[in-house]
Amino acid sequence: MGKPRYITTPLYYVNAKPHLGHAYTTLLADSMKRFSQQQGEDCLMLTGTDEHGEKIAQSAEKSGKSPLEFADGIVKFFELAWEKLGIRPDIFYRTTRESHYKLVQKALQRLKNQDDIYFASYTGKYCLGCERFRTDQEWDEKGLCPDHQTPPEIREESNYFFKMSKYQDRLKDFYKENGSAISPQNYLREAVAMLDSPLEDLCISRPTTRLKWGIPLPFDDKYVTYVWFDALLNYVGGLGYTGGKPTKETTEEKGFKSEFWAEAQHLIGKDILKTHAIYWPTMLMALGLPPFKQLLVNGFWLTSGLKMSKSLGNVVDPITVQERFGSDAFRYFLLRDMSYGHDANFTWESFIQRANADLANGIGNLASRTLTLVHKNLDAKVPSRSGRSEVDKTFLSQLEKIPALYKDHFDNARFHLALAAFSEGVANCDRYINDQKPWSLAKDPDQRDRLVAVLGTAMDALALLSVVSNGVLPEGTCKLRTALGFTDAHFDEKAGWSVIPWALATQYLPEGTQLGETPRLYPRLELPTDPE
Ligand code: MSP
Repeated sequence: MGKPRYITTPLYYVNAKPHLGHAYTTLLADSMKRFSQQQGEDCLMLTGTDEHGEKIAQSAEKSGKSPLEFADGIVKFFELAWEKLGIRPDIFYRTTRESHYKLVQKALQRLKNQDDIYFASYTGKYCLGCERFRTDQEWDEKGLCPDHQTPPEIREESNYFFKMSKYQDRLKDFYKENGSAISPQNYLREAVAMLDSPLEDLCISRPTTRLKWGIPLPFDDKYVTYVWFDALLNYVGGLGYTGGKPTKETTEEKGFKSEFWAEAQHLIGKDILKTHAIYWPTMLMALGLPPFKQLLVNGFWLTSGLKMSKSLGNVVDPITVQERFGSDAFRYFLLRDMSYGHDANFTWESFIQRANADLANGIGNLASRTLTLVHKNLDAKVPSRSGRSEVDKTFLSQLEKIPALYKDHFDNARFHLALAAFSEGVANCDRYINDQKPWSLAKDPDQRDRLVAVLGTAMDALALLSVVSNGVLPEGTCKLRTALGFTDAHFDEKAGWSVIPWALATQYLPEGTQLGETPRLYPRLELPTDPE
């Protein structure tokens, strides 16, 4: 087994169906997992749903269902969306699973026993959209929540509090010592700035007179657990942690995959930085567990300058996009057009334009014109490599630099630049073919050796490009490899499209190998006439 790795998405609230913003993080997590598996790592991916709290209770009430019935209905849309998009999470975590209740209660009891939880009355400004109290500085100049544009609700009640302030100094040290614990760097600075002033303790309960839909506190049944305290524990619960006391530094009771926890990378949106960068690591410290390895923070997908969100009614449904345009095009666009950490605008025009330029006219057209010529002129077989010229060799050796470049970008969360390197490779290959003009060579029997050399070189280039982009274009690259004559790429109901090992990028097929059928990889897409 390779090196362990653990990639998580946030757990999505089940107050509404998934939208493009949720699809983005989940597709990215899946592509990162595929990329990690390509490198031979043993990677687990977790996603799931966050099902307690006031937002869900309210939505359920409006629909006349019990919260659990309501959640069950919405969860199906998430599962369906991920399945259709070719995402195969190893762990689909619902916070309503029984083991999660036990974990949350055991963890709370331990914190209470070690005097990290106390009872007090409190008045604060609550944002229901965020499901958290915001400090006085966290409202915009109009006094509204910057993420939801809603006014605060003043809440005064007696509650239980977690002594978050006790861990402030340790958390500061953690960020000081781990400069890549949050990426991109501006979010690390933002998190560190939150630690400049004294931290307030965290309210971790809600009275059942206000909210019943939650995990009861083990030491006071008149209260349920605050939804964020409950939900964050999923990341360790998904690896089998049950809330017990760690024996040594990182080991937990039997069954906790602590070697994966040591490699945990959480993908989150910028709106949930505080809960992940401040609440979560202090909770872990209190429980005696090491903090995560890294938070990877993305910006928002916007439509006409506004965050895409169900409450604003400007969402794009990922299931519809997949059904109309295929999941490769969607994945590619999302990863290519968002410069990681920054906001990006979604328009149908930019989606169609990107898919057509880089996929239909890019890799799709390159594959189709090369393979058609090989079928027609070389008996659909991989030709000899012996007669290649300096031009051919130089071109291929330049192209062979792409895997390392792509990997460096991908490893450092520059996903858009990794894909830019890939499409640059496609463009170079197009240029090579345009210069060498194999269609003219094919007409002249004296140029047979040149034809063999050029088409063979182009096929090797396609093989390399298919490995490099396999994590982001799983469907197309597998079809392309089969067309090139490889037998390592196929679809498996359980595992999805094959993951092609990275080391195969420069392992080309032996002379004489029979090619497969030439598929139409990426048809040109048309702008929808009735966009949602
Ligand atoms: N339930 C919490 C997370 C708990 S994790 C233990 C939550 N859920 S959410 O459904 O509201 O949001 C989940 C993720 O989707 C967040 O990372 C959020 O940033 C992301 N997105 C929601 N809308 C988005 C866009 N328009 N664009 C990009 N991502 C956005 O928060």
